[in-house]
Amino acid sequence: MPGTGIVIVGAQWGDEGKGKVVDLLAENAEAIVRFQGGNNAGHTIVRDGEEFKFHLIPSGILYPDKLCMIGNGVVLDPRILLGEIDGLKRRGVDLGNLRISANAHLIMPYHVLLDTAGEIKLGKLSIGTTRRGIGPCYADKALRLGIRVQDLLDEKILRKKIMAALEPKQQALRELLVQRRKLRKEAGEGAREGADQSVAEAPDPRLDLHSITEEFAGYGHRLEPHIADTARLCWEQLDAGKTVLFEGAQATLLDLDHGTYPFVTSSNPIAGAACVGAGIGPTDIGQVWGVAKAYATRVGAGPFPTELDDEVGRHLLERGHEYGTTTGRERRCGWMDLVALRYAVRLNRMTALTITKLDVLSGLETLRVAVRYRSREGAIFDTFPYHQSILHSAEPEYEELPGFEADITACRSEEDLPAQARAYLDYIAEFAGVPIRLVGVGPGREEVVWIGGNPGVV
Ligand code: GDP
Ligand code: IMO
Ligand code: MG
Repeated sequence: MPGTGIVIVGAQWGDEGKGKVVDLLAENAEAIVRFQGGNNAGHTIVRDGEEFKFHLIPSGILYPDKLCMIGNGVVLDPRILLGEIDGLKRRGVDLGNLRISANAHLIMPYHVLLDTAGEIKLGKLSIGTTRRGIGPCYADKALRLGIRVQDLLDEKILRKKIMAALEPKQQALRELLVQRRKLRKEAGEGAREGADQSVAEAPDPRLDLHSITEEFAGYGHRLEPHIADTARLCWEQLDAGKTVLFEGAQATLLDLDHGTYPFVTSSNPIAGAACVGAGIGPTDIGQVWGVAKAYATRVGAGPFPTELDDEVGRHLLERGHEYGTTTGRERRCGWMDLVALRYAVRLNRMTALTITKLDVLSGLETLRVAVRYRSREGAIFDTFPYHQSILHSAEPEYEELPGFEADITACRSEEDLPAQARAYLDYIAEFAGVPIRLVGVGPGREEVVWIGGNPGVV
């Protein structure tokens, strides 16, 4: 009997609580696979008051008996991965079931430099990337200049490939070096200046063939026991009738093709990408769980129609502890955007929705949800506009719903929730056209309300 693939996908601009949802659903799965992105992601799990933040390792790792895989679609910084592995080992986590695709691409030191340099060069137009080298690494993959995990296992091949990839980088970064002064001026504040300096200092071991080859061959030795044909491992599980979770990073509106381009990440976080990024077929996917916060946040630049710059925004920031897991940046906060959510529901063909952080809304007298946009010219948009300029100037039109005062963190069933909270959830589910199956009422693993019962999967 064929098994079920379940994709967990971010429905907004990231940090919706995907890690926690994966941790919960993993209880009834055999394997968990990350299929895109890299250590731009930060997925948090809170178990018995202990917090775990994962950047590359799948959020199923706290179950020692489950297979946890980093799929071919991920871009992997081995230094970060090894740091994560060591950190987890120190905390007593068993990593014996961690598998890494031999086809995943490696984030190289020059990718990180190029990411920073690119952002500085863009100045006011910068994307606000995590500066982890994600974009340049995916660019090299498309250019067929990428270095893959399997290349770590043969130093000769590794050196040759690094040599081919490095040369154009040295050129590009040299040009930037020439513009050093100008870049410094544009960089402005201290943090950027520091990053700029790292580009400008030469010779730099991060651009030296010999140093990089040695360093990466060393990583290869350490990672070798984990390297595997992860697509095949997925097929084995699925063909044996097991459930496999596909853990998305980033989110729908950061999708390279369908998000708010160019203010997006460089991979495809939508559910369809699980096929490419893990090596499975579309019909292997049986369910798609979208994860959305009860409000909206965004890190980095780009359009955000429901963004708030007022007391409510500050309430969401503070009560929701909206600071980036990866970069520590303040997240921009705003009301729930149902136009965008409905778009995400259709794009991913979600079968279930999870609403997290409902507890953060406690104490707000009135809740607002965007139900349409109005363009500068007065045109009404009921659907998510594809045109960048419209989206940038779109003014949301809101529906108002009554808020709730009570602290809901102790609620464990739908009946425990205040009537206004239930009405809010019903409104969202009705508008989005997909059932809400899980509601988050606190960061802890147990701080959830299952609607219609814990599915035990299927
Ligand atoms: P991810 O990237 O989608 O996995 O999300 P992050 O881990 O970056 O950010 C979500 C944050 O919200 C984390 O700090 C979680 O511990 C926290 N969180 C998740 N669900 C809830 C919830 O229902 N209520 C509250 N208050 N916090 C939550
Ligand atoms: P998780 O998986 C929120 C954002 C960055 C920036 C844009 C491009 O934790 O939800 P990149 O470094 O990917 O080239 O940056 O994407 N971004 C995220 N925002 N959560 C994430 O991951 C993100 N990963 C990237 O802030 O705006
Ligand atoms: Mg995150």
